[in-house]
Formats: sequence, structure tokens, C-alpha cells
Amino acid sequence: MVQLHEQIFRDAHQSILATRMRTEDMLPICPVIDKIGFFSFEVWGGATFDVPIRYLNEDPWERLKKMKSALPNTPLQMLERAMNIVAYWNFPDDIVKKFIYYAKKDGCDYFRVFDALNDLRNMKVPIEAVKEVGGHAQGSLCYTISPVHTVERYVDDFRKLEKMGCDSLCIKDMAGMISPKMAYDIIKECKDAGIKIPIDLHSHCTSGMTGMAYMRACEAGVDILDTAISPISGGTGQPATESVVAALKGTEYDTSYDMNLLMECREYFLKIWDKYRHLHRQTALKVDPSVTVHQIPGGMLSNLVFQLEQQGAADKYNEVLAETPRVRKDLGYPPLVTPTSQVVGVQAVMNVLFGRYKKIPKETKDYVKGMYGKPPGEISKEIYKTILGPKWKDEIIECRPSDLLEPMYKKRKDELEKMGLVKKPEDVITYAIYPQVGLKFLKGEANPEFTSEQLPLPFNHPLTRAMVNKYFPEHKQIWIETEPPEARKPASIPIEFSVEVDGEAYEVKVTPTGFAVPSAAPAVKPKEIEGGVKSSMQGIIMKLKVKKGDKVKKGDVILTIEAMKMEQELTSDLEGEVKEIFVKEGDSVQPGDVLMQVM
Ligand code: CO
Repeated sequence: MVQLHEQIFRDAHQSILATRMRTEDMLPICPVIDKIGFFSFEVWGGATFDVPIRYLNEDPWERLKKMKSALPNTPLQMLERAMNIVAYWNFPDDIVKKFIYYAKKDGCDYFRVFDALNDLRNMKVPIEAVKEVGGHAQGSLCYTISPVHTVERYVDDFRKLEKMGCDSLCIKDMAGMISPKMAYDIIKECKDAGIKIPIDLHSHCTSGMTGMAYMRACEAGVDILDTAISPISGGTGQPATESVVAALKGTEYDTSYDMNLLMECREYFLKIWDKYRHLHRQTALKVDPSVTVHQIPGGMLSNLVFQLEQQGAADKYNEVLAETPRVRKDLGYPPLVTPTSQVVGVQAVMNVLFGRYKKIPKETKDYVKGMYGKPPGEISKEIYKTILGPKWKDEIIECRPSDLLEPMYKKRKDELEKMGLVKKPEDVITYAIYPQVGLKFLKGEANPEFTSEQLPLPFNHPLTRAMVNKYFPEHKQIWIETEPPEARKPASIPIEFSVEVDGEAYEVKVTPTGFAVPSAAPAVKPKEIEGGVKSSMQGIIMKLKVKKGDKVKKGDVILTIEAMKMEQELTSDLEGEVKEIFVKEGDSVQPGDVLMQVM
């Protein structure tokens, strides 16, 4: 018998509906879902923590509690990003442990723990924390293709995870590119190697091979498959639950789930699907076998296109496609999943725009130092030297990255108490994980996003035409009111919105296109002046490193800029005294903008 792990409340709507499904749309069908007998039901974690506080004015902890009472017979699961928890950077152990403690207390039974680099050291603390509170720990490895990601390596790491106390294992194929052969080989080898705990295969329909991979996985002895009830399945999401149930019926892998109950769920979710029709994107529902060639996940591809457009270099797309695997090789073949997909993608863009490793964001340096964990493959001495400089050996850390972090819980708790915002202990965790967005939410300043009923949006809505054009081209008409161009007013500049990386939200700031020069932009920025030092890229000024009157040499760092969500150093190409500075911290700049005058 094979069992299913249902994804409709987590990965399915994260992959296809930008994680926007609300709790009110989930609760009414729970009594039916609860009767099906799923192995487990993923309802939490991943982007379902971030999105509710950022866009829905919903408390994720309250959602979890409601899910638990509505689904008393179904084990609830969350996706936990090891030391990143439900965010994109490392947290100290005390926050990880507290988070898991409250997640278990509020209703989460199973925890799927994974690390972007499959660094088992990063997974140890969360796995132990889950075991300590009596939860089910599912040790998960990211599936990727590279010379160092062999079947043997996966089997070896899965054996280690079993020894670490995991209750089950998962092959996490986040890009949806596992072939039937690889699915079979990994699972079969695991079983032959004597792994006793259940094995789950998590995949997406992106490449079009997933149905076949699931069948071969069954033949190899897989115990659990990840699926989603049909109205929110397929494309970049999971295979449909009903289809897998029907396909396995009468075989030795029969799930024995009640098809009538599933049909009732289908009816229900068809209505929910329609409620979020403004988020439907044709590309998210199409098969894209090109992933089997370039191995770049869909979310990362669209992000690369966006970044190139921002830098005014959309014509460099094919060069970036070719450069991405080279960078990935240089960096020791990290799986392309958040946040490593961002590191590799941005470095590839930089290499194409400015020459190989001529510009290196802080995040690439951190990655090479080992601040994300141990890279899966070797990094050559030349690359170390190029990225970290001649003293590269002193910069590399050998320890687990979180060992370098100070405990944070008490500090955050004191801060939030001082602000009088602690209504329940979980609030401290929300604040610790998302200090800005979480605080805004806890203060009651978050506004729920619109729904389909509120469309079209007024012109000054923060979701601008630029974003609609980029992400929802087929919905231009229904999304935004038509007004004459002269009536258009920018909402606020710069505009912050989230770009999806691996289906998960990433914050970026942009200046919308198609508008007149906004009044909120920095004052006068002459395009051509004598001694003008220009910005080489689009971004937000983070820190000015020089002041008026300072002497600078060629190559000196004059300021840091946040471009493509990464910290970049801009250097002076002139020598002399800083006569005038035209920008301040927080300003948004475009390539070619004059930043300061050096003479
Ligand atoms: Co997934």
C-alpha cells in the first residue's frame, strides 16, 4: 500500500496561487478531508508563514490552531527550512527550538526538515528539537542533478538521517525534474541498503515526467507520494490526488482512499480556484520540459528575466542561461533552491553584465565562506581566491554556520514586551523571524490584500502596472482600471513587492516603468557632469562609504547598493576629492545615474 501526503494547503497554492489561499477558504472542507485518511497533510511552513502576515493580515499561528481542531484525525505537517525556519537567513538555535516547540503545541505533528545545501549539520538541531517535543521528524534532501549528487550520496545521507532519529525520509524534488529512473534508483537503493523508515517522494509536475516517476517510485517501494487535490494541481504544482488514487487502484500500491470523498473535495476547491482567478497564470499550469536541459527551476527563470529587465539587459538572457551552470559548478553544485538559487542566479547575471567575478555580492562571498553550510562539491583554489581575495583561507569557516550566532530569543522578547505587543508567546517568534513585516503585523498595521471581487484595482494601488505586466500579462485588463496616461500617478517610490523564487516570496524594490519622474525620487541627478561617478546597476542605496571632502582613489568603495536583493559594493572609477554627493541612503538609482562628483 502507498499513502499520500496532501499538499493543497501548502505547496499547491504556494506554487500555483502565490500562497494566497485564506484560512476562511480552508476550514469549511476540513471535515471531509479529515475522513480520507491521508498519511499527513501539509498545512504550514514554507511561504505560508510569511505570506499571511505580509499580505493577508492573518496570524499563521491562529491558522495552525484552527486547522488542528478542524482536522483531529489527520497528522498535520509543516515544511521547515532547517536554520532558516520559515525565512531566508540563519537563525540561532534558541529561536529554532522555540519555534518548533510552539508549532508542535499549536497543532503541527510532522516536520519536514530540509537544508538548501543538504548539509546535515544544519538539520541536526531542528530534528532533535522535533524529537524532543514528541513530533515526527521527516528528514528531507533536496533533489538536484550534478556530478556530485549521485544515487550513492543520497542513499548515504538518508542512512545518516535515519541514524539521526528521523521517523521518515523525503526526496524533495522542488524543481520537478526527477526522472522515473532516478526516482526508482534512489528509492530502491535506500530499501536495499536496509533503510527501515518510510520514504516519501515530493515532486512537481513541471517537467511532465512526474506521473511516470511516481509509478516507478511505487515499483521501487516508495511509501508516501506528495499530491494535491485536482483543482490546484498540475503545472508547477503536484500531481492530482484523485488521479494518483485512481491510477493505483487495484494494484498492490492501492491507497484505498474513498473516491467519493475526494470528489466532494474537488467540487469545493473548484469554487476556491475560481475565487482566486486573478492569480491564475497560464505559465504556472503548463509543462516545461526545458528544466531537464538547463536544470534551472521555473521560479528562478522568471526571476532571472526580471532581474535582467531591471538592469536594462533583457537581451542577455541566453548568455545568463549559459552562465548559470558555470557559476553553479564554480560554487560546488549547490541545489538551486531558495536561497542558493538567488546566489547563483545573481552572480550569473553579474558575470554576464560586468565580466566574470568582476562584481561579487556579499551573499556570494558568504556562501563561499561556508555561511550557508558546506557546499556539496569542491570549490577550486582559483575561485576561492577570486571571490575572497589572497587571504581566502582565513575567511572560510569550518563550523556549522549557526555556531557563530548569539542567542536571540530573550533580546527579541524584551524588545517586544517593551513595545507592549506580546499577546501570546508565539508573537515573540513572529517578531524574531520577521522583525519588520512581523512587527507591522503585530501592531495591527497590516492590510489584507484584495480578492477577485475587488477587481479592477485603482491606478494608485501599490501593485503596479510594472508588476502586472511582468507576472500577469494575461490579466492586464481585469487587474487595473483603464485611465488616460496623463492621469496615472505613481503610488509611492520605490515600490516594494515580492518576486517569487522557487515559488516563494522574495522582497524587492523597484521603480515602476511607464510613469513620469516621481516626485518622491531623489532631487536633481544630472545625467552628465564633469567628474560624475555613475551607478552601474539598478538598486537602492544602502550605505554611503564616503562624505563630501573625502579623497578617493580608483577602485575605492564609495557606497553599497542593494540590487537584486543582494548587497553590492560600488567603486569609484575616478580619482580625486568628493565634491558633491547626489544620493542619500534609501534612494533608488538606475544604471547610468550620477551618484557623486569626484574631481
Ligand atoms: Co515543493
